[in-house]
Amino acid sequence: MSSVLQFHNVSFSYPEDGKNVLEELDLTIQKGEFVSLVGPSGSGKSTILRLVTGLEKVQQGKVMINGESIQPRDGAVGYMPQQDLLLPWRTIEENAALPLECRGMKQREAYAKVREYLPIFGLGGYERKRPKDLSGGMRQRVSFLRTFLTGADVLLLDEPFSALDAITKVNMQEWLYDQWRKWEKTIVFITHDVEEALFLSNRVLVVTEQPICFLTELTVPLGKERTRRDLARPELLELKDELIGMLKGKVPV
Ligand SMILES: Nc1ncnc2c1ncn2[C@@H]1O[C@H](COP(=O)(O)OP(=O)(O)OP(=O)(O)O)[C@@H](O)[C@H]1O
Ligand SMILES: [Mg+2]
Repeated sequence: MSSVLQFHNVSFSYPEDGKNVLEELDLTIQKGEFVSLVGPSGSGKSTILRLVTGLEKVQQGKVMINGESIQPRDGAVGYMPQQDLLLPWRTIEENAALPLECRGMKQREAYAKVREYLPIFGLGGYERKRPKDLSGGMRQRVSFLRTFLTGADVLLLDEPFSALDAITKVNMQEWLYDQWRKWEKTIVFITHDVEEALFLSNRVLVVTEQPICFLTELTVPLGKERTRRDLARPELLELKDELIGMLKGKVPV
């Protein structure tokens, strides 16, 4: 396996508040892995993704993508930020088609491609609506679709399903898992949902220290052929308990 993402000795603080969010962090993510990042609110998970995208500049240490120091070349990573950032003046299909158009696809083709996916994302018939006409969960799915359509091999997803109802969430998780298996993408996935992390991931990285100087790693003992029922296996229940215990230790009361 080759590493796709690497943090070497990375420290970072926001100039506005001065205290370190990351401190000499080392982190390696291998090609084809599905890695979840869980941890308390405000602990620095989104910051890690923002450093990979180049939206925040590394102040000390190195972030590497495919063995090269960032700046990431165009299209190397697909990023779904925590806020949906849909363009309010564009319709749903125009928003979702953006990455396809950026890659030079003809508009008609791009819209046709988007329409192929909208029903899968529970958005059939909404192509001509604007973001303001959609619920929070629907906007989140448009944003997710837009990220998926970048076609990038590395997807950075910041709480992509947090606003979804339980059933839609399960459907989207299963869809994403299938896509990951089929296309062998590398996925870094932030979530507060412990079961979601266990169902989807090879590894779960837990923020147990702040500033983040390392991430506590749990390996999920499930192969690629997994179903939701596997979550009821004793070893998974144990892992879930362990994970919740780690997080509880860190949630301020
Ligand atoms: N643009 C910013 N300017 C200044 N401080 C920021 C900025 N963004 C985040 N922070 C601070 O950096 C810390 C880490 O924020 P970050 O958004 O990475 O947390 P998070 O783990 O993603 O939290 P959540 O689970 O709530 O999304 C927090 O203390 C936050 O207040
Ligand atoms: Mg966040």
